[in-house]
Amino acid sequence: MEPGDGIVIFLAPHCKSRARIRATCHDRLDHAAILSFSHQSANDRAHWLSSTVASCRVDPGERHFLDEPAYKDPSSPDNVLLENSSFGTFRATKVQKPSNSAPLDPTFPPAFGHLCQRPKSFKAAQETMGSVSSPEMAWWKDGVAYQVYPASFADTNGDGLGDIPGIISKLDYLASLGIDIVWVSPMFESPQVDMGYDISNYEGVHAPYGTVEDMDVLIAECHERGMRLILDLVINHTSDQHAWFKESRSSRDNPKRDWYVWKKAKVGPNGERMPPNNWRSYFSGSVWEWDEPTQEYYLHLFAKEQPDLNWENLEARKAIYESSMRFWLEKGVDGFRVDCVNMYSKPQGYEDVPIVDNSTFVQPGPVWANGPRIHEFLREMNMEVLNNYDSVTVGELPHTQNPSHVRKFVSAGDKQLNMVFQFDIVDLGAGKKDKYCFEPWKLSRFKEIVATWQQFIEGTDAWTTVFCENHDQGRSVSRYASDDPKYRELSAKMLCIMLCSLTGTLFVYQGQEIGMVNVPKHWPIEDYQDIESVNFYRDMEKKCQGDKKVMDYVMSSIQVLGRDNARLPMHWDDSDFAGFTKRKEGAWMRVHDLYPEINVAKQESEPDSVLSFWKEMIQLRKEKREVFVHGSFRMVEPDSDETFIFVKQFGQEKAVVALNFSGTEQTVNLPEKNVKLRVGNYLDAEAAESQSGLGTKRVLRPWEGRLYLAAVD
Ligand code: GLC
Repeated sequence: MEPGDGIVIFLAPHCKSRARIRATCHDRLDHAAILSFSHQSANDRAHWLSSTVASCRVDPGERHFLDEPAYKDPSSPDNVLLENSSFGTFRATKVQKPSNSAPLDPTFPPAFGHLCQRPKSFKAAQETMGSVSSPEMAWWKDGVAYQVYPASFADTNGDGLGDIPGIISKLDYLASLGIDIVWVSPMFESPQVDMGYDISNYEGVHAPYGTVEDMDVLIAECHERGMRLILDLVINHTSDQHAWFKESRSSRDNPKRDWYVWKKAKVGPNGERMPPNNWRSYFSGSVWEWDEPTQEYYLHLFAKEQPDLNWENLEARKAIYESSMRFWLEKGVDGFRVDCVNMYSKPQGYEDVPIVDNSTFVQPGPVWANGPRIHEFLREMNMEVLNNYDSVTVGELPHTQNPSHVRKFVSAGDKQLNMVFQFDIVDLGAGKKDKYCFEPWKLSRFKEIVATWQQFIEGTDAWTTVFCENHDQGRSVSRYASDDPKYRELSAKMLCIMLCSLTGTLFVYQGQEIGMVNVPKHWPIEDYQDIESVNFYRDMEKKCQGDKKVMDYVMSSIQVLGRDNARLPMHWDDSDFAGFTKRKEGAWMRVHDLYPEINVAKQESEPDSVLSFWKEMIQLRKEKREVFVHGSFRMVEPDSDETFIFVKQFGQEKAVVALNFSGTEQTVNLPEKNVKLRVGNYLDAEAAESQSGLGTKRVLRPWEGRLYLAAVD
């Protein structure tokens, strides 16, 4: 092959060796594109299968592995035009069908091993790309993801609860925002003790949300728009109403008894019945629930209605893979956000944790995270299921602070997960002992966290995520910046600049794009519905016997950190109940007082709104994806507790981001000289910039953010 030549490999839908082929190409080829077309019609597939391997010219430096649909250019049968939503048009031309275009041999590489050039190490590939992250571009790396919380997104049938047709009705809105991947939180059959994270049937849909057929439509409509759809995978536990648990608890010798974790009682000092150990559940109280009929305790790390599955049992694992994963992958979903991904393997000794709180028997200390077999289970899950699909996984990874440990989960070579949500950023402010006992934090710590989780993939084959909101967290404007009416829009835009310029897959949570803020401070606990906050509040009330000072502190902590902050209905317009529902009694959850001021319709009509700003920033992130999505990260002045300045770089491109995280003016020094302002969150940013002279000194106004582009010297 001539220099600059490459090959394009078309993978059959659900090709079993997809990952192996990709890995082999990755090592051996300078220029290659791997295309899968699992979402194309049968006719298209047949057409492409007739030319499974084609050599083509790829622009030097291009070395992409695309998992996106490919289209034949009708104007020229010899050309291939590779288009997709997140990459634009891939520059591949002059396709020649090789004379021996045999169908793809699943035992790669003999059929086209001769096309492979000299071995190429990962490091060398990185140098070519000038990137610190994997040069492999994938739809799930460059795509922007958006999390939908079904209960609170859009209600179309007037029952006060969001639904799947509601999600479908807003797909064009998401497309206009620049979203490529939609993540839908649990919409499965569930008694809703924990808002759907208690699943009673993986293969069914919670009736008020719709039907499995609605999900088929949602999948098709997403794909139609070039978007991917990922679902929540909640397999640490099921609902106690799941058929498996009903069988398991029916008798001690039921064949499914061992699918959950059952233990005998301990005997206390006075002969009383005691739980097997002193572990405290996430939702207060013990992790053990006594089952009177069978005289044993079962384990539940969360609510007692969420019994933990026993991952030690192979049969249970196989059933999990089949029902919760294959069922939906076969329908065409593109992957999963994996709930509690490091909790499946429990330390089998089930020993007590050290006592840190003398006032109660149960003690915090999540020793169940990262148990001895966790990586083995994840590898198995990948091998058995995920590897056979063009799918992505993003794991929820709490209690894991060590970068090398996190890398173990997401190293591409070790085929466990594609990426994770590491918790440091969202744990900021959460109490060490009790989550809802707020502890103040400094910006220097925030910056250290961002830097750590940006840099931990450098020089490795791992991948990272960028996020600061989800359905379990307070709103970012209120938590990390200012929701003071004077500053809240500036704050939302400033955070947007930061997020859109960081390396990794960007996840946006519904409402973040319009700058939704936390629950108003005066709302009482009765307006909160989340089991976690409400249980904690009631627990503390008992412990401190309603002491006003303590309870005010607990309430103010819940107001900052509570999960309900993110679960209030989405603000679509300024009509009743924010246009979320037509039900005259209103939505299932109280609507935020500020919806007439903060809503989609208003912001769509305003060119300077937070929403318009997000659209522009997402666009810019895509235009300059090398430097923003894949670039290296360097922070300057790590000790400043007011400003956050960092440099992103990819090959010849650099960007400098300067953010003021304070309500007062700050003077900063930019780390680069030849920079040009590209984006600012103040309307007169350009004018302010032109007054700053030629040097590197800049004055940033309250909550001001500026993004500069620079050429490498
Ligand atoms: C995850 C979910 C959370 C849920 C918990 C139990 O942390 O994000 O909402 O309560 O798992 O499934």
